[in-house]
Amino acid sequence: MTTGSLLAFDLVIAVLAAAGWLGGGAAAAAGQRRVALGVAAGALLATLAGAVTTVLLARAGWWFAAEKIIIGGPLALAAVLAAAPRLLRPPADIRAAAVALLFAGYAETAALLVTVLHGYPVSAGPALLAVAGVGAATALTWRFLGPRPSPAVSRAAVAVTLAALVTGTGLAAARGGAQAVHHAHEPRDVPSVGEPTKRFTLTAGTAVVPAGGRDVAAWAFNGQVPGPQLTATVGDVLEVTLRNQNIQRGVTLHWHGYDVPNDQDGVPGVTQEAVLPGQEFVYRFRADQAGTYWYHTHSASDLGVRMGLYGVLVVHPARPAGVEVIVPVHTLVGHPLPAHTEQRVGAGTPVRLRLINTDSTTHRYALAGTPFRIAAIDGSDLRAPSPVAETAVLIPAGGRYDLVFDAPASPVALVVDGRVVWSTGALDATTARWPVLDPLTYGDAAPRPWSRYDREFTLVLDRGLDLKGWLPRYAQTVNGAADPDIPSQVVRTGEIVKLRIVNRSLEVHPWHLHGHHVLVLSRDGTPATGSPLWLDTFDVRPGEVWEVAFAADNPGMWANHCHNLPHADAGMTLHLTYA
Ligand code: C2O
Ligand code: CU
Repeated sequence: MTTGSLLAFDLVIAVLAAAGWLGGGAAAAAGQRRVALGVAAGALLATLAGAVTTVLLARAGWWFAAEKIIIGGPLALAAVLAAAPRLLRPPADIRAAAVALLFAGYAETAALLVTVLHGYPVSAGPALLAVAGVGAATALTWRFLGPRPSPAVSRAAVAVTLAALVTGTGLAAARGGAQAVHHAHEPRDVPSVGEPTKRFTLTAGTAVVPAGGRDVAAWAFNGQVPGPQLTATVGDVLEVTLRNQNIQRGVTLHWHGYDVPNDQDGVPGVTQEAVLPGQEFVYRFRADQAGTYWYHTHSASDLGVRMGLYGVLVVHPARPAGVEVIVPVHTLVGHPLPAHTEQRVGAGTPVRLRLINTDSTTHRYALAGTPFRIAAIDGSDLRAPSPVAETAVLIPAGGRYDLVFDAPASPVALVVDGRVVWSTGALDATTARWPVLDPLTYGDAAPRPWSRYDREFTLVLDRGLDLKGWLPRYAQTVNGAADPDIPSQVVRTGEIVKLRIVNRSLEVHPWHLHGHHVLVLSRDGTPATGSPLWLDTFDVRPGEVWEVAFAADNPGMWANHCHNLPHADAGMTLHLTYA
């Protein structure tokens, strides 16, 4: 069982345990002896099973089980100690067992809420609130279902509950304490990177564009989705003028995966102000990395990208060869792009497919009809990529894979999530059952460039209740906090930084650090053995732990976020900053 499925299983068990004790208690209160004993016995089993899953999760990593052990453990123990004797020796009148069974139900519910609403890291506030909740609920139950406790007992219970409630609320509200992200935007000159050799103008505006055989209302650069393809050759100096015609939410250009200087990175509120209707902004940077990239607005990025404000950026090496096919996959207002194109390619011609996932979720790509190699991932060439066939690749949100092959005489087809998007002829390919390539074991290893790390950060990804804003929200969290309350990670120029990303949620999080490429060290404790993987976006699946490292060589304040853009919006965004 993977840690991801263990997390899900543990959650189901916890719900069953809580519901079982509460149901058993209710049945006991109603005098339903058989039902009460049967359901409560089930709850006891679920509680014991929960102890087992908790131990297994702790073995996968303390992050996965900390609160279950420190807060949930004592609550479950109290539940079992109070309720189990009533099960083993049921009272003649089952109603006498109701309070104990309900108490167990409250305790298990409180433990479940601590996991679902709070999670990692463990803190005293939620623990005390949980105890207070259990105490209050039990006191009320006692009042209504009697026997009346002695005045001393009830006074003590009230005191403990109140104390826990007050301290818990205080501690829960005080948690976090991140320094807010402040930025000054001094008016600045366009940075001098030399005379531009390639000039583009991108004008953002509302438009009606064809998608999926109909016209849809979109937001577009120069009236088209995707926006114009920006191509350059290594050594070019790009100058891109961004104009906003009428996008009220503002626009910017972020060069996804391109490690530009910080003031060119296009993150509103961090590296520049959003470009509002009627305004413009000029980006200038040197194209010094060849490869497949893309650009997109970073202003209201979830909505903006979904509506169509994105395009392709390809930087060619000095001598490109053969046929090149660029496939940016996108879901535009529910319609998958691009439409199928068929292209004749002469046998023996070298072909490079530049696959780009501009959506917020993973896509599965399968190339049928030919063996192929994965020449590059996220713009970086792989070392000694071997030919593979009948193998699919999963590209994370924001990620890019370059597949290369020599065109055979027979047809070839590229299938994305079961849909043919590009082919060289008619081919009936069934690719659904193909195995998926693991990039961590693909290609030839090379010695790591670093053997020690100057700094280490751990990011634990989860969901949790965020009470910091105007309205409480169920946020996507990092280390128990949500944007803008996640502390920035501070590094110094020249340091080698290790980043550990732990996913204790039930969703995939495509992690994306701006301004740097990270080298993958390990996943779930198993070192990467293939070609060095320099990524800007990687999927951290439920229960996974990734270790990556990067050289802090690009000073500034950088966004570091989940590229499932609704998640980024819902709190899963923090910043990397240089001291
Ligand atoms: Cu492609 Cu901050 O994102
Ligand atoms: Cu996410």
